[in-house]
Amino acid sequence: MAVYMVTGCAGFIGSHTVKLLIDCGHQVVGVDNINSAYDVRLKEWRLAQLVDKDNFKFVRADITDRSSVNNTFEGLCCMNRVSS
Ligand SMILES: NC(=O)c1ccc[n+]([C@@H]2O[C@H](COP(=O)([O-])OP(=O)(O)OC[C@H]3O[C@@H](n4cnc5c(N)ncnc54)[C@H](O)[C@@H]3O)[C@@H](O)[C@H]2O)c1
Repeated sequence: MAVYMVTGCAGFIGSHTVKLLIDCGHQVVGVDNINSAYDVRLKEWRLAQLVDKDNFKFVRADITDRSSVNNTFEGLCCMNRVSS
């Protein structure tokens, strides 16, 4: 199984992408800065459906901040960018 990074993982598309990947048995590192473009409670609710999965790890970070995500990329084979 592969290891994926999904950015925007608390968003509409990202959260569904994460679910599909972890349900297929892949490891997923999800990155999101939980911005306030709309009600953050919806993003928190989506994350709450995912965080108890053994093969999902959430990293709260801004993908435009290279230093905060640099280490997260190591060892990953694929990235799906769905943040706006
Ligand atoms: N939803 C649709 O039907 C649809 C259709 C076509 C294209 N898109 C595009 O796909 C992308 C995702 O759409 P969505 O509906 O899932 O949006 P969304 O706003 O629900 O999700 C985007 C997520 O990315 C996060 N994010 C934004 N900037 C970030 C940053 N710098 N670092 C980390 N996280 C960041 C946000 O907090 C949010 O949780 C958007 O670019 C959108 O324009 C969406």
